[in-house]
Amino acid sequence: MRNIVLGLMFGDEGKGKVIDFLTDEKTTVIRFNGGTNAGHTVVTSRGKFKFHLLPSGALRASDVVLGNGMVIDPFALKEELDIYKLENANLRIMISKAAGVVTPIHVFIDKKQEQLRGDLKIGTTSKGIGPCYEDKFSRNGIRMGDLVDKQTIMAKLRLITTMRQQLLEGSDYLSTQSLEKLAEDLYKVGKFIEPLMCNTELFLEKKKSEGNLLFEGGHGALLDIDFGVYPYVTSSNTMSGGSMTGSGFSLRKINNIIGVTKSYISKVGEGPFPTEISGSAADSIREAGGEYGTTTGRPRRIGWLDIPLLKYSIMLNDVDVLAMTMLDVIGKQKSILICESYRENFDSPVQAMIDKKSATPEYIEMASWGEIPESEVDEMILKGYYGLPQEMKDFITKVESLTGKEIGIISIGQRRERTIIREKWKSILK
Ligand code: GDP
Ligand code: IMO
Ligand code: MG
Repeated sequence: MRNIVLGLMFGDEGKGKVIDFLTDEKTTVIRFNGGTNAGHTVVTSRGKFKFHLLPSGALRASDVVLGNGMVIDPFALKEELDIYKLENANLRIMISKAAGVVTPIHVFIDKKQEQLRGDLKIGTTSKGIGPCYEDKFSRNGIRMGDLVDKQTIMAKLRLITTMRQQLLEGSDYLSTQSLEKLAEDLYKVGKFIEPLMCNTELFLEKKKSEGNLLFEGGHGALLDIDFGVYPYVTSSNTMSGGSMTGSGFSLRKINNIIGVTKSYISKVGEGPFPTEISGSAADSIREAGGEYGTTTGRPRRIGWLDIPLLKYSIMLNDVDVLAMTMLDVIGKQKSILICESYRENFDSPVQAMIDKKSATPEYIEMASWGEIPESEVDEMILKGYYGLPQEMKDFITKVESLTGKEIGIISIGQRRERTIIREKWKSILK
């Protein structure tokens, strides 16, 4: 099977957990966008693992690919490689020579741009993502393949810093000595990574009929640079279509597009959020779900599941089936709401947000199923969908009828095993 798994909202939907669950020893997992702004947590019997650059399937996959659509901080990559080689000794890692290189210069510029934006700030992760993509598209960027040639690195560092002179005032990066030191460090890490670099699109073409291909979308579809709530977005295409330009693998060869959503919404950074809640209701979900950023540690903003946004995202990504996470967390809430519609009639809820139109959610209340006692969870999982509390099944059925899509994967806990895949959708694992 060749599947895409991506988040349908503003990130942190639990993609990492779902991807790890769907990965086996014959799977190649491919990341196609973003960089260390992503943060995925996977929990197994061996502990808690955090991924920023390697795709979350890396614990079990045979191969992972870091595609050309990514922007890679090579120093952060080296650290992650050291960790995951220990966990999965047979893992083959392939890195596209065409992926962008994030340097400390990009991180400096990212922070400086946020300061200059003032009230218009985006709330970026400060990982240098936007500036690195700017360099890519202005054709001044350093690519992973450049890291094996010190002269190219130095020439490109000079080009980038000359172009960015004004923004870099007050930093070290205007001195030749600092640039030479950075070029040396990049070269050293580049030589370390060199054996892993290749033209990954050619590898994927060869792999297409061996084992499974699983494309991991970083971030969330509503953070897409084109179709998200601009400017409160990231700088890459996070929608399913981004998998094609970000890896070179045709979307026509994909079997299933799996959209992940929480049973509520979380968001980090600025921007409109119609179903956002505050006070004790938000605190209660935040604490129950551990809703603090994997990358930045920021408390995540919390809101109720928003069907107009979910439907927009399903359409945009041509989703075949939904995966829903955090059903254990939402079940602990006394009152559970779903935003069925907005009072206003918008063609595109995202455009309405971009246009700063106020959206008034119309909620329906669902019966709560309460906390699932720890001692009962394993047995519940064994029984599959039919063993779930009736109120949880009613919640699932309601979302299915409102969106017109089935929820094929149900996640009721952080650990890998706390996942149910419904009979009809088991074929996506083949
Ligand atoms: P991602 O960026 O979409 O991969 O999501 P993150 O890993 O940043 O955030 C999701 C968090 O929820 C992580 O800590 C996961 O371990 C956790 N998680 C995922 N699914 C579930 C679930 O069904 N229940 C609970 N309690 N936690 C979950
Ligand atoms: P995962 O893969 C949540 C958000 C940032 C900010 C905006 C732009 O873990 O779901 P950037 O640093 O990308 O320029 O920031 O996008 N953002 C994410 N929010 N999860 C993510 O990734 C995110 N990646 C970017 O918070 O609002
Ligand atoms: Mg995350």
